[in-house]
Amino acid sequence: MKEIKVWDLQTRIFHWSLVVFILCTLVTADILRYFGIDLVNKDTWLAFHIGTGVAVGILLVFRILWGMCGPRYSRFSSLRLSLHELIDYFHAVIKNIKTNHTGHNPAASWSALCIIAFGLLAVLSGVVVFGLDEGRGMLRSLYADFHPFSGNMKLLHLGLAYALLGVVIGHVAGVLNETVRHKTGIITAMVTGKKLSDEAEMPFPAGAPLKLVSFTLVLSPLFAVVYFTGSMDTRQPLSLIIPSVYKKECGACHMAFAPNMLPEKSWKMMMADLQDHFGDDATIDDASKLEIEEFLVKNAAEHSLEEASVKFIRSIDPAHPPLRITDIPYWKEKHKLIDESTYRHGTIKSKINCVACHKWSEYGSFEDSDIRIPRE
Ligand code: HEC
Ligand code: HEC
Repeated sequence: MKEIKVWDLQTRIFHWSLVVFILCTLVTADILRYFGIDLVNKDTWLAFHIGTGVAVGILLVFRILWGMCGPRYSRFSSLRLSLHELIDYFHAVIKNIKTNHTGHNPAASWSALCIIAFGLLAVLSGVVVFGLDEGRGMLRSLYADFHPFSGNMKLLHLGLAYALLGVVIGHVAGVLNETVRHKTGIITAMVTGKKLSDEAEMPFPAGAPLKLVSFTLVLSPLFAVVYFTGSMDTRQPLSLIIPSVYKKECGACHMAFAPNMLPEKSWKMMMADLQDHFGDDATIDDASKLEIEEFLVKNAAEHSLEEASVKFIRSIDPAHPPLRITDIPYWKEKHKLIDESTYRHGTIKSKINCVACHKWSEYGSFEDSDIRIPRE
């Protein structure tokens, strides 16, 4: 036996980058939060999860390309996928017999295939979840019509991620078995690229275009992570332009509520009777009234993609919408844990002073990361 080159540089970069990025996506999924560990705010975490998820996706696309036109041992055609061989391999493992495979052994062949398949499906389902749940990303247009399916899609995404994790754990167990019991040196081989073998070394004279494409693909995930994480960690409040007459007239007695907090019908009913406005007289001149009503109706809840608006609309009876935001079932549900006495705190004063706890509420944005209940 002599030492021959088995794993080319691109395959090794692929392998170890995939290890790092899959670990990152797992850590930044809700796992830590589930155990009550809350290191950074949720949106930053999510941005990093999306960034590393995209990186995993690009790596897997590279691997498919490499499986078709890479060097011998990286090709799909060199994988040992016969069930017979797989059973023989496990027999050998149980009996502690050392086997020698230059490229992927049968178990590693199946792991590679399953990791690519579950990995790609997990990434794709993640993009769908990002669109359905957050109204963001490539598939954000799905949000308006399919948001109710986001729960099911999240479960599917989670299931695929666990399937991937299962295969990875199996693969690591196999590698440890080979390394500890048989000292086959396969971990070192994935670092140096070299393995002891009876087979003859197969040179791989790749042309310049293939080299360029493969290195670009296998290295680009590093930039994808930086780009996606950086461009997403802070969410801009909605670019809502609030007419000054609205702030002046409707922000005199309480905060000027964002129009996407109530449906059109509620605003129309409210504007039709300002004389008896929750017991107060809020009458204004006709020109101002017209301008305000137009602004409220145009930006009402049913015309907004904001998560809160969509959930508000879904929780009310469209024929009889409430006049109060605080009468909307979804609002009540979200604030049921807040004690009445909290609202009476110094700077809050009232539960309709949304802006005391929701930084961007005047613009109709109610992101979790922007919620803070003032203590004073
Ligand atoms: C003269 C003072 C005054 C003015 C001006 C005023 N409001 Fe009000 N508004 C009130 C009072 C009082 C309440 C009831 C507050 C409470 O129950 O805590 C209220 C409640 C509301 C609520 C319900 C809040 C909730 O969810 O409980 C909305 C929505 C609202 N006002 C919108 C408007 C709009 C739109 C305008 C401008 C056309 C406006 N208000 C102008 C006094 C005013
Ligand atoms: C005393 C502070 C406080 C006030 C005042 C308050 N909220 Fe909240 N709100 C919260 C907290 C805390 C949560 C998070 C509840 C949770 O996720 O369990 C929340 C959640 C929400 C959510 C759901 C956000 C999401 O997507 O998860 C919406 C929408 C919302 N509030 C709207 C309003 C509106 C509109 C008003 C004013 C009429 C208001 N809130 C007043 C504290 C407040």
